[in-house]
Amino acid sequence: MTVLRLIDVKYKYEGSNRYTLKDINIEFELGKVYSILGRSGSGKSTLLSILSGLDNCTTGSIFYKDEALSNINKDLYRTNNLGIVFKENNLINNASSLDNIILAMGEFSRENKHKKEIIYDLLRSFDIDEVKIKTKVDKLSDYEKKKISIARSLINNPEIIIVDEPIEGLDEEEVKYIMEKLSDLARSNNKCVIIFSSSDKITSYSDEIWGMVNGKVIFVKEAND
Ligand SMILES: Nc1ncnc2c1ncn2[C@@H]1O[C@H](COP(=O)(O)OP(=O)(O)O)[C@@H](O)[C@H]1O
Ligand SMILES: [Mg+2]
Repeated sequence: MTVLRLIDVKYKYEGSNRYTLKDINIEFELGKVYSILGRSGSGKSTLLSILSGLDNCTTGSIFYKDEALSNINKDLYRTNNLGIVFKENNLINNASSLDNIILAMGEFSRENKHKKEIIYDLLRSFDIDEVKIKTKVDKLSDYEKKKISIARSLINNPEIIIVDEPIEGLDEEEVKYIMEKLSDLARSNNKCVIIFSSSDKITSYSDEIWGMVNGKVIFVKEAND
């Protein structure tokens, strides 16, 4: 099932005289991992903002299922349908991972015990132990922060997970762990996982590989080809 469809999408930053995204046509389905690979400056993070509804495309259209993204409530879209894992994680460093995730669970009260149980289970599934769940994020490693940031993106059970540069600075074993988790979300939980990266280490975990060059997105290959 197609969840996101981009048709002739172009994007220009305000005040800029050139397009940062150019004629992008791509469809994303549930159950698949998409890698979008490109060098620094090729437009990956800009495309992430557009897909996330954090910014609107200048021309062209984006559909979430059958609805134009321009017509839907972006806050609800981001809360209910989308998980975003930012390159810099965007965690609150002087709060614990528990509190970081509570903050992402908008509509529940802080005192809800059931909610804490859900967060504990989620963080344990990323091998974040009881002590670390309560430790301030700034005392944790980059690898642990990445795991917490991925866990946080899943808390509202979104269908689409968009991840910017997930493996920068990680060693081989850590890359394997993160990428296996992300591909498992597509394979076992039928999520649509879209990963932006400048490293081709992620391609072996992907169903479709796309390249991003100078604002254009080009199909490279399907995993089994
Ligand atoms: N806020 C902005 N205003 C103007 N230009 C920007 C802005 N953010 C990024 N750019 C430019 O857009 C291009 C693509 O950047 P970006 O999407 O961050 O690429 P990537 O994530 O692939 O490194 C770059 O040339 C960058 O300088
Ligand atoms: Mg980027």
